[in-house]
Amino acid sequence: MTRPYIICHMMTSIDGKITGDFLFQKECTEATDIYYRINRERLADGFICGRVTMEGSFTGGWYPDLNRYKPVDKKRDFIVNDLSGFYAIAFDTHGKLGWKSNKIIDPDGDPGYDGAQIIEVLSEDVDARYLGYLEAMEISYIFAGETAVDVELALFKLKKILACNTLLLEGGSIINGAFERVDAVDELSLVVAPVIAGKDAKPLFMDSEIASFELIKVENENGNLVLNYRRK
Ligand SMILES: NC(=O)c1ccc[n+]([C@@H]2O[C@H](COP(=O)([O-])OP(=O)(O)OC[C@H]3O[C@@H](n4cnc5c(N)ncnc54)[C@H](OP(=O)(O)O)[C@@H]3O)[C@@H](O)[C@H]2O)c1
Repeated sequence: MTRPYIICHMMTSIDGKITGDFLFQKECTEATDIYYRINRERLADGFICGRVTMEGSFTGGWYPDLNRYKPVDKKRDFIVNDLSGFYAIAFDTHGKLGWKSNKIIDPDGDPGYDGAQIIEVLSEDVDARYLGYLEAMEISYIFAGETAVDVELALFKLKKILACNTLLLEGGSIINGAFERVDAVDELSLVVAPVIAGKDAKPLFMDSEIASFELIKVENENGNLVLNYRRK
């Protein structure tokens, strides 16, 4: 394969939703633990999230003062020398994420993410000073499109440049949908919590296309369903 094998790993409600207050119900506590355990067990080269999820889970909306950084006008990929082999890959079209370090530093947070080296996947529609900021922070970045991120090109580069063979795609709904539409979900790994989500909750895949999967594993872990499907 010229791109990494993609496992979309998500926790869902019974009705296939992935966002909203249902995630904080007590019935979801065990499902969350199972979700993080599987995340660690898969031993992937890293995980991919959309900009909104990265903001909610890791950067908290912080953004640097770009006036402090020298613009980098050339739109060429920037890869640091000391690649760790375990990556937090942010699909961040316009460079909206502010990182305070080039690795996820979250020792007390969700297990399995701490220490992941950040990779920014950008379109060329990004402030030149943001590139200066990333370089000053020693955060690697790759370009994959002019005004939007081309998922197939990004995946091709993640394999070619960073040697990623297997990556977890971990939401949210919008980025999952973008992968699904270009047939870049090879496997689905779902933890279904025994709850129904609220009315504003988002689906597993936003704006999806019809696609067939083969069920390869079902387990009942104390009322939480652990499901694995492979793309047919
Ligand atoms: N249940 C679970 O397992 C789980 C896991 C993860 C997240 N979540 C939840 O998911 C929610 C966030 O999901 P979301 O759907 O709102 O956002 P998202 O998928 O996390 O991020 C979407 C953003 O990604 C950027 N992006 C980069 N390349 C893209 C492409 N090719 N196509 C589309 N977007 C691209 C865009 O940023 P720009 O707008 O800057 O262009 C887009 O708005 C949160 O509530 C989070 O808690 C749940």
